[in-house]
Amino acid sequence: MKVYMIPFDTIGKRSPLLYGQFIEHFHRQIYGGIYDPGSDQADENGFRKDVLEAMRAIHVPVIRWPGGCFVSSYHWKGGVGEKRTPYFDKAWRVEESNEFGTDEFIALCRKLECEPYICTNAGTGSPEEMSDWVEYCNLESEGQYARLRIQNGHKEPYGVKFWSVGNENYGSWEIGAKASEEWGRLVKESAKMIKHVDPTTELTAAALTDIHWNLELLENCKDFLDWISIHQYWDHIHETNRPADYNQAMAFTAHTEDAIGKVRGLLMAMGLEKKIKIAFDEWNMKEWYHPNVHSIEQGVEKKDYLYPRDDNDDNSIYTMADAVFTACFLNALNRNCDIVGMANFAPVINTRGCIYTYPEGIVLRTTYHVFYLYTNYMGDIVRNIGCPDMKRIRVVNCEGMPEEIDALDICATGFSDRPGIAIAFVNKLAEEPSEIELHFEAAGKVKGYYICGKSVSSYNDVGNTQVEILEEELGDFHPGMKLCLRPHSVEIIRIGC
Ligand code: AHR
Repeated sequence: MKVYMIPFDTIGKRSPLLYGQFIEHFHRQIYGGIYDPGSDQADENGFRKDVLEAMRAIHVPVIRWPGGCFVSSYHWKGGVGEKRTPYFDKAWRVEESNEFGTDEFIALCRKLECEPYICTNAGTGSPEEMSDWVEYCNLESEGQYARLRIQNGHKEPYGVKFWSVGNENYGSWEIGAKASEEWGRLVKESAKMIKHVDPTTELTAAALTDIHWNLELLENCKDFLDWISIHQYWDHIHETNRPADYNQAMAFTAHTEDAIGKVRGLLMAMGLEKKIKIAFDEWNMKEWYHPNVHSIEQGVEKKDYLYPRDDNDDNSIYTMADAVFTACFLNALNRNCDIVGMANFAPVINTRGCIYTYPEGIVLRTTYHVFYLYTNYMGDIVRNIGCPDMKRIRVVNCEGMPEEIDALDICATGFSDRPGIAIAFVNKLAEEPSEIELHFEAAGKVKGYYICGKSVSSYNDVGNTQVEILEEELGDFHPGMKLCLRPHSVEIIRIGC
């Protein structure tokens, strides 16, 4: 397969926020995940030092919190100050201690030097409660909530820039779900109050690919919104936890840009594509496993709805299929960086995250290494790249239907601050290497950074590392240079860097 690039043929400059993360009060993401004061690994603020170190190594640019479905019945005021009132979390049917709240979240973001992004409660909450939260975080000292922050020991405003009105309020599973007709009005009144508190905030609101919902939202709120939020999980296993096999997972890679294309189309049709960007602020190939809660039928016994969540901790199911898909989606985000300005992997820790914690340490799952490759070796200027003789392969999707997909997924980048080219090649073939020829102008040494594992089922677990980043020196670049991509691999080829 021959790969071509034309000089100066660029798509745009990628925002660093494309490699964002998400953390929710669900299972062991917060408690027993990032925040574990009783752990031997905890620092003076109760955060796991090994988790912080791993998150710093992938340069996390932004973290979205506290949910997710959790947020639609969360009241932030119970999570600040000396006295934290435990309450029953009706979203996930567990007691929330409120020990981790806004101040702890901001402390986490400061330690990671990343942007905080707060999702507000548009389920049981109100525009006033949302804007009170902005007062607490962003006002200097005016009013009771800024004064409360100061009284809680945090004199300086937090300057939280990114705020979302709601999570998935369009969904029947969401507490306080809304009809499209009421959503536009609620977001408008919420956005108005938030902007009256801090006009420098950047606002988004829960959306999806449904044109009626999005039209109501955008017609009512286009003047207030800077972003529009969408979510997607491709492997629908929240009730079954029977993950797609590698072949089925490859079928998902043909649909990484479907949702982006639909929302882009509507924004363009409304002439909003320069004003409003897409925040893909929850995504993961796999849905989280939490049977008998995301529907009207609630599990009665804890064995029906609570204990199964522990099955998300089975590290053996996070294989090269997850890594290959994740790289294909990161490529899709880069290719659409002109309209997608933020994305948040859901979640970063435990559940389906890229980092798994256990009392003595952490496991870096295959998806973690994809984020490491992209955040450390890819550039920020996305370039067009073509492969006219792209090999096509047939796979069978989860519905048992045949699909024809590209054998490779490719994303080329340059650097805004230095010379060089970095190209992400994803070889989706399970068993075969792929030979490529590089037909474009470049100069300098060529180096590859890749993950592949011994098989498509390779994974990482405690005391069992099967997938890690390897490097290879590939000599001096010359047009027509041939490279061989390993089966089921993600490789960043850097030239002249
Ligand atoms: O499965 C977890 C849930 O997925 C998140 O809480 C929600 O935002 C999405 O539906």
